Amino acid sequence: MQYESDFLVIGSGVAGLMFALKVADHGSVTILTKRRINESNTVYAQGGIASVFSQADSFDLHIADTLASGDGICHESVVEMVVKSAPDRIRELIDLGVGFNRAARDQDASGGACLDLGREGGHCRNRIVHADDLTGLAVEDALVHHVHEHKQIRVFEHHIAIDLITRSTRLKRGMVVTTHEDYCYGAYALDRRTGEIHTFCARTIVLATGGSGKVYAYTSNPDIATGDGIAMAYRAGAIVANLEFVQFHPTCLYHPDAKNFLISEALRGEGGILINSDGERFMDAYSPLKELACRDVVARAIDTELKKRGDQCVYLDISHQDPDMVKSRFPNIYEKCLTFGIDITRQPIPVVPAAHYMCGGVVTDIFGRTNISRLFAIGETACTGLHGANRLASNSLLEALVYAHQAAHKALDDKQQIAFETSPVIPPWDDLDAIDSDEVIMVSHTWNEIRRLMWNYVGIVRSDKRLARAKRRIDLIAGEINEYYWNFKITSNLIELRNIATVAEAIIRCATHRKESRGLHYNIAYPEKNDIRWKKDTVLRRPFVS
Ligand code: FAD
Ligand code: SIN
Repeated sequence: MQYESDFLVIGSGVAGLMFALKVADHGSVTILTKRRINESNTVYAQGGIASVFSQADSFDLHIADTLASGDGICHESVVEMVVKSAPDRIRELIDLGVGFNRAARDQDASGGACLDLGREGGHCRNRIVHADDLTGLAVEDALVHHVHEHKQIRVFEHHIAIDLITRSTRLKRGMVVTTHEDYCYGAYALDRRTGEIHTFCARTIVLATGGSGKVYAYTSNPDIATGDGIAMAYRAGAIVANLEFVQFHPTCLYHPDAKNFLISEALRGEGGILINSDGERFMDAYSPLKELACRDVVARAIDTELKKRGDQCVYLDISHQDPDMVKSRFPNIYEKCLTFGIDITRQPIPVVPAAHYMCGGVVTDIFGRTNISRLFAIGETACTGLHGANRLASNSLLEALVYAHQAAHKALDDKQQIAFETSPVIPPWDDLDAIDSDEVIMVSHTWNEIRRLMWNYVGIVRSDKRLARAKRRIDLIAGEINEYYWNFKITSNLIELRNIATVAEAIIRCATHRKESRGLHYNIAYPEKNDIRWKKDTVLRRPFVS
């Protein structure tokens, strides 16, 4: 089946939904999303959205904090644009019905909104707008509600995009072969419930597929975060960058029954301290900012403590604070920890670092445009230049909102110019020779192998030797997956496995290339930063296939 619309949005987190709402009055919108509409990284966001509202704060301070966190390679014009757009984007969310917490404790410049502003690592002022500790849920719920109300938006749940369709796409059992200078026309997607593969075409295609935490064995991310957008764009010839900068969140709950539960940095913003198994506070030894240092510093400090002491976890302790404040400020974390038998008002919380956020991604300009015509990338899947070598806390939801806005404006301008008749006849997906897989075990085994490999060899602390080992292994695994991919009928597990292998390989290539330590990339062979050689992005493009 072939579907056509003006705008094709792949992904239904904050970036994709916000873009859809902004263009829907001007054309038809199709949203593809691989599970239920609200399953996304967005929905799990806790801390909030960074924005200058307090009179004690300024754009210059937010810009300076973002640049400091990015460790020398943020694009300054992008940082300035994003930071200055933030208050308008937050007001839009308020207008859409998002109920952010309000309080009198910060004098604000938000037109009487008097938002309660939290603090997180790397921020020199309180500037985190939040809805309790469930900010992402509040944002996603409001956006989903408005998307469902809009007659021009059609949502295809349980449809997983397989590959982008570009001008020079030729099909050989679904293989997409592209030249470098290209146009994007749409995507092939698998209906996970029926097993059918459909063709979706549009004038504008937006990748809003989120992050890639599932490339690692331990992650704060939900199962959807398999780097599909980065992998699809890379295969289609898009430029990707800075994939070595994987952010590890310092404090995920360490408990055998907790799959991936985050303990928000906002807890440290409210006075939470980190202690080891002897009850000693240790962050003083690593940074004058202690627990409120940037995430790369705190995650590395915890990693060092664990290796030094042979412990399995450290502890985040907020039990010295007023229990009523803790319960009302962090109701979700309080309740969730109770289900694991931990009362955070009385006990320290066992925590470990875990893969959390991909700072690199598909390279875009200030409007979210990629190097492939008609193809935009927004949200976590993009690399806009905002985050540099390390994202500042709560700048991610912000980036997604700002770039949904930027991209929508540009796409609406372009809509006047793009004639739909320039689309070629798109051949349907062809997998006639493929047979049903009889080796499901291969997919789950290889999936685990990649994730463990990335955790052990391409984690918080790297070395040339470990990276070389990782490269040898991933080359072998990628070859095996490729062979399997072309012989058997496509399933969503196989699509995701292929994508995490592609992203893992690209992360290893970027990490191997950078011969210094900067931000989130730490290599023991080059422990110092080298501005003369490496103060730049790591840019990667798939070799041209003819
Ligand atoms: P997502 O919200 O991840 O949405 C991606 C969408 O794409 C999903 O709907 C997914 O199903 C869909 N998708 C993916 N691949 C395909 C495919 N092949 N076909 C079809 N659909 C596909 N950031 C902050 O700024 N503040 C915070 O407080 C904060 N807290 C966080 C807490 C947690 C636990 C996590 C995991 C992240 C947090 N982040 C936070 C990061 C932030 O939530 C994400 O970076 C942001 O939500 C990404 O939004 P997005 O729209 O780009 O992607
Ligand atoms: C958190 O609440 O600690 C997550 C914030 C973020 O990822 O920006």
